Amino acid sequence: MSDKTDITLIINGQSHAIRVESRRTLADAIREDCGQTGTHIGCEHGVCGACTVLVNGEPVRSCLMFAQQADGKQIRTVEGLAYGEEMHPMQRAFMENHGLQCGFCTPGFLMLAVGVLEREPDISDHDLVDVLSSNLCRCTGYQNIIKAVRAAAVEMRQS
Ligand code: FES
Ligand code: FES
Repeated sequence: MSDKTDITLIINGQSHAIRVESRRTLADAIREDCGQTGTHIGCEHGVCGACTVLVNGEPVRSCLMFAQQADGKQIRTVEGLAYGEEMHPMQRAFMENHGLQCGFCTPGFLMLAVGVLEREPDISDHDLVDVLSSNLCRCTGYQNIIKAVRAAAVEMRQS
């Protein structure tokens, strides 16, 4: 008997009806079953944060969540950040502040930072840095990542 289940992943407002095994991770389902490869996979152990997406507004490490647990929930990935041709303030701030080098960790940092600032726009600088410290950047460009998120935080508060 197959343990596959029919689920619907709603990614950036678009429904994807897929059939997945119970052990299928959300990260694999997003990338391989729904073709949204902007979400990156690094460690697959919940350590690096490269796979961070928003599930019902909460930053989640998608390598640690089963796809079936996200059935019917609102998922946001890096592909959904821009407004058409216009970049999200967080994307623009990363570009302007040189917050990315190879870019592998960037989708995870973007989604983490956007998720936190949308929920807590007035988060203290200390707490913001604390949150960002949960994700890893192999290129070690942390200072510019922090600078970019701080700049975007100011813009997001004003909008
Ligand atoms: S790939 Fe998910 S935390 Fe590293
Ligand atoms: S920019 Fe290369 S891993 Fe972060």
